[in-house]
Amino acid sequence: MAITLAFDVYGTLIDTHGVVTKLEELLGDRARDFSSTWRDKQLEYSFRRGLMQNYENFAVCTRDALDYTCSRFAVDIPPDQKRALLETYRELPAFDDAEPALTDLRARDCRLFAFSNGAAAAVETLLSAAGIREHFLGVVSCDDVKSFKPNPAVYAHFLSRADATGDEAWLISGNPFDVIGAISAGMRAAWVRRSEDSIFDPWGIEPTVTVTSLRDLADAIGI
Ligand code: 2OP
Repeated sequence: MAITLAFDVYGTLIDTHGVVTKLEELLGDRARDFSSTWRDKQLEYSFRRGLMQNYENFAVCTRDALDYTCSRFAVDIPPDQKRALLETYRELPAFDDAEPALTDLRARDCRLFAFSNGAAAAVETLLSAAGIREHFLGVVSCDDVKSFKPNPAVYAHFLSRADATGDEAWLISGNPFDVIGAISAGMRAAWVRRSEDSIFDPWGIEPTVTVTSLRDLADAIGI
């Protein structure tokens, strides 16, 4: 059976800090810190909504996190500029290694899926705008089960949608919490360590493999 790869989207294929250039127009040299806080808060809101069973689309977490971050940085961004920032978020760029790695993996007969907290329509738009949609057999969204990673139900949903079992399916993610979630749910998982500063959570659960670029994935997995 061909190996099944579930690619996390935000932070793995797509660079969430692609919004920094636009933020620099508003925040100057505080743009990168603003972007990091926005991203951390977006994820925190998804975790909290998951725990509270108070589901809203991931785009709501993104929007609310932007409002929070504006307050935290004491910056008053006018509504039309906020809309423009959220528009940018819908069309963020892919990391440079995504396109060549996906082309290579597809040639090796892997079954590639995008698997994200983002709603399917938003992920379709994002991957198309980034020019990498064609590589995937499909998009599987946590929105289908009205929850977020790392709820075990979302990984089970992925396996069911991809018609795969945990021992033949890999999650590929730059997000340590996602890697730990997938392994806990019985999948294998590759951590894409996109920055030397990233720290893997010390939970006693290690990634099956670690790579620093998607280009190294095929060798690391042994495909
Ligand atoms: C994603 O699911 C976790 O944001 C990440 O795309």
